Amino acid sequence: EHTYETILVEQKGAVTLITINRPQALNALNSQVLADLIDAFAAFEADETQGCAVLTGAGEKAFAAGADIKEMADKPASDFFNEDFFSKWTSHVVKTTRKPWIAAVNGFALGGGCELAMMADFIIASENAKFGQPEIKLGVAPGMGGSQRLTRAVGKAKAMDMCLTGRMMDAAEAERSGLVTRVVPLADLLTDALKTAETIAAMPPMAAKVNKEMVNAAYETTLDQGLLFERRAFQILTASDDKAEGMKAFIEKRPGVWKGK
Ligand code: CAA
Repeated sequence: EHTYETILVEQKGAVTLITINRPQALNALNSQVLADLIDAFAAFEADETQGCAVLTGAGEKAFAAGADIKEMADKPASDFFNEDFFSKWTSHVVKTTRKPWIAAVNGFALGGGCELAMMADFIIASENAKFGQPEIKLGVAPGMGGSQRLTRAVGKAKAMDMCLTGRMMDAAEAERSGLVTRVVPLADLLTDALKTAETIAAMPPMAAKVNKEMVNAAYETTLDQGLLFERRAFQILTASDDKAEGMKAFIEKRPGVWKGK
């Protein structure tokens, strides 16, 4: 197994657990974390034994307290522009991962940390989780999707409130607002997230990828186009061995055995 500088990666059966491991900096996201996550997500995607991943933060305080402010403080604007700073988060971590993954948010998810959590297919939060887009207080604004994904997740009123005041949203408000699927005690967070990931990893793998693509399509397109995409993708899945097996297994009252074909 590969070792990384800023993250820990463990395989637990068919589930890959990825832990951002810079607790002394509240798991702030610097360029090494980005490079490590790109590698780890690519390895997860390529490994046929792995069906779902969980991303969390080391320690009890933070999932990630944002992009690394110390790394950005003295960087000239031309570097941000010429590197197209933050573009790889979306283009690599999100766009190239077709398998499902869950963010298990165990504390602060601020700025880039909140944005990274929102890149996951869904978020499970601990009771002490806190979400926020405090970039305005640093004289900037979200750069890894916060203004777009937060608005889609919680609507304009709350997204404006969060971005303009920089305030934090606690776990209960995040659940009420539809940002997270559920809130669990911190002590149960990883157990819950890993169990959920195991359930997903045990599903027919092609169907898992297609279900994920379908829900994501709802964010990108019109209702008519989305419904068409859904029907066509459904129809394509009916050609799979796993569809034949899944329906046969149901009728024979036994669990299906998947081939991923
Ligand atoms: N970048 C770099 N270092 C960070 C960091 C960050 N985003 N967040 C925390 N740290 C560091 C602190 O500097 C501190 O390091 P030292 O011990 O070396 O001083 C260590 O982590 C512990 O942090 P605090 O002492 O501040 O802990 P606290 O409990 O008093 O406060 C906190 C916790 C409220 C989360 C506070 O750390 C904080 O406000 N952090 C910054 C949050 C933020 O502004 N995030 C947005 C970043 S910009 C961004 O993300 C852009 C984007 O859109 C992608």
